[in-house]
Amino acid sequence: MRYGFDATRKDIWKSRELEQAIATRLNCGFVQLTSSGTSALTTALASLGIGAGDEVIMPSFTFVASFEAVLSVGANPVLVDINDSLTMDPVAVRKAITSATRCIMPVHMCGAMADMDAIQEICRDHKLILLEDACQSIGASYKGKSLGTIGDAGTLSFDFVKTVTCAEGGAVLTNNKTVYTNADGYSDHGHDHIGNDRGAELHPFIGYNFRISELHAAVGLAQFRKLDTFLSIQKKNHQYLQAELSKIQEVKFRTIPDPAGDSHTFLSWFMPSRQLTEAVVAEMKAQQIFGGNFYWIDHNWHYVRKWDHLKTVKALNRLTPAQSAALKKLNTQDFSKSDEVMGSCISTAIGLSWTDEQLQEKATRLAEVIKKVLTNASPQAHYSQQASLA
Ligand SMILES: Cc1ncc(COP(=O)(O)O)c(C=O)c1O
Repeated sequence: MRYGFDATRKDIWKSRELEQAIATRLNCGFVQLTSSGTSALTTALASLGIGAGDEVIMPSFTFVASFEAVLSVGANPVLVDINDSLTMDPVAVRKAITSATRCIMPVHMCGAMADMDAIQEICRDHKLILLEDACQSIGASYKGKSLGTIGDAGTLSFDFVKTVTCAEGGAVLTNNKTVYTNADGYSDHGHDHIGNDRGAELHPFIGYNFRISELHAAVGLAQFRKLDTFLSIQKKNHQYLQAELSKIQEVKFRTIPDPAGDSHTFLSWFMPSRQLTEAVVAEMKAQQIFGGNFYWIDHNWHYVRKWDHLKTVKALNRLTPAQSAALKKLNTQDFSKSDEVMGSCISTAIGLSWTDEQLQEKATRLAEVIKKVLTNASPQAHYSQQASLA
């Protein structure tokens, strides 16, 4: 238990230690650990005062947790197209703003950042709250600032597939004392955490149990101390793989608004057309080298195309009429720009435990597959998307 029980805990405070370590390393005013990245998003939204009737603009490419959190506080998710940064397109964001918009939620997908200058400008112009989902991008930065610390609040995830994991866990980051105090109470049944008698604490507002446990925090602390080691291994492996794929002129790479801030968790690359990308995926599968690679357009969890449960409003609890209407709208919304990006993108997860030999073999086999597909392809297959990704 991370709060209270002062006499029995023998002054061991793992959650506090991890919060302090994250605050120091990421240069962030306040950190509130939670039980998961999803509960961190919910906690952040509630702590920022977002609720029923509010529209939250988020990208079409993200994890399902983004809209789950928005729905859970009673707000309406509004999805917008991404561009070849694999993050929300600021032009699409501007077009989606209505009088109900309260918050913009960029998601820093696959280890790298959204165009934060453009998004901050939109927030300033329209007086909107900025919540950064940095759950996939711990250790990444934008113009020297850690992702998750730029907006009014940000979130991290420490689940089992993240760069830093404690099995399950998350964090709310903020530089705003009130948002932090809200998050601290909201994630622990609304407790005010004043004094050292838990039973006597008051509840200034309604909260929930989104606490992390001390056991998870202890594992997280040990992992977090290795963050910079992890980042440097990722960078080395990523650079090698990218250099090898760069030798094939048809292969293009994701636009990264501040390349120096990439956490190098994934190498995301584009084939010139969807047809060629599908052929590469098929050939990788045939050669049994697709593991660790993601073709997002076909992915069940990360892209709007496969979120049928969302689009058909399959919820166990009744949603508000405004929420149902917002979700039904997704069925007729044009996501062709996102489809174009997703259809020709493959993301290769960068391993931490690869040996140099394994890395070289992966790069060689991947390059061979791409070259084979390009050699066998009809000339038209090369053109359909070249222009948009140039
Ligand atoms: C972008 C994004 N947001 C939120 C989450 C939720 O994190 P968790 O799995 O810790 O609930 C994830 C997890 O994959 C994610 O990728």
